[in-house]
Amino acid sequence: MASRPSLFTAFLLFICTALFLIASTSSSQNVTLSLYYETLCPYCADFIVNHLVKVFDRGLISIVNLRLIPWGNAFIQPNGSFVCQHGTNECFLNAIEACTVTIYPDAVRHFRFIHCVEKMSLENKMNEWVNCFGMSGLGKAPIDCYTSGYGEVLERKYAAETSKLKPPHRFVPWVVVNNQPLREDFENFVSYICKAYRGTKIPEACKSLPLESNSSQKENHINSVCYVDQTSNPTSSAPAIN
Ligand SMILES: *[C@@H]1O[C@H](CO)[C@@H](O)[C@H](O)[C@H]1NC(C)=O
Ligand SMILES: *[C@@H]1O[C@H](CO)[C@@H](O)[C@H](O)[C@H]1NC(C)=O
Ligand SMILES: *[C@@H]1O[C@H](CO)[C@@H](O)[C@H](O)[C@H]1NC(C)=O
Repeated sequence: MASRPSLFTAFLLFICTALFLIASTSSSQNVTLSLYYETLCPYCADFIVNHLVKVFDRGLISIVNLRLIPWGNAFIQPNGSFVCQHGTNECFLNAIEACTVTIYPDAVRHFRFIHCVEKMSLENKMNEWVNCFGMSGLGKAPIDCYTSGYGEVLERKYAAETSKLKPPHRFVPWVVVNNQPLREDFENFVSYICKAYRGTKIPEACKSLPLESNSSQKENHINSVCYVDQTSNPTSSAPAIN
């Protein structure tokens, strides 16, 4: 007699688990956009300030898990010290931006700061970068993160992640949407996000896609990036570019 209710309970449990699984997969339909970049590459700054900022337009961010990975073409010497393509200031700012992303995980908040720093870099006002904390409404905790050495820990993590990219990045900005590298077509990231999205809450940004030219077909576009420096980066496994 007792077997009936317990079978029924088991059945109910099964149904609940199934519903839970369905619900949790449908809520993780966010598209991941990862930007591998370095803070003082002018093409990264241009991409962040003039293009990536569109991820906050017309609801697109509601389906995007935005990941910023400030390491780029830097590398680690055998004795453990970092070498950055645009010098020690770049290593410093990479770590500051890594700290900011970690301390303020909300993309809207940390992107405001990073946009500000990259805009100053484009306008040759790098010495004013510290004002970006106030201008983006953030505290200066990322500076403590840097001086405590935690920024370096984060950078080593980003270095490892960047070196594991398959295929390896050939240049920065290097944009990856759900594991698909966009290569030279990175400025069209909105189209790739909308195509990759499998959910039902279609944001406005995906309903009327602007007619974008496919930049992988634009020959002149190819030079507007910072290439992996083959001669000075012995750890790079990226293929040579001809
Ligand atoms: C999807 O991304 C948005 C914005 O980044 C975030 O608020 C939401 O929690 C994310 N959903 C999931 C399931 O990760
Ligand atoms: C690491 O090695 C480089 C050159 O090989 C040198 O310039 C640098 O000072 C060294 N750094 C440390 C912390 O020893
Ligand atoms: C751009 O063109 C390339 C090659 O023709 C193609 O693989 C890619 O999907 C196109 N991108 C978009 C956004 O249509």
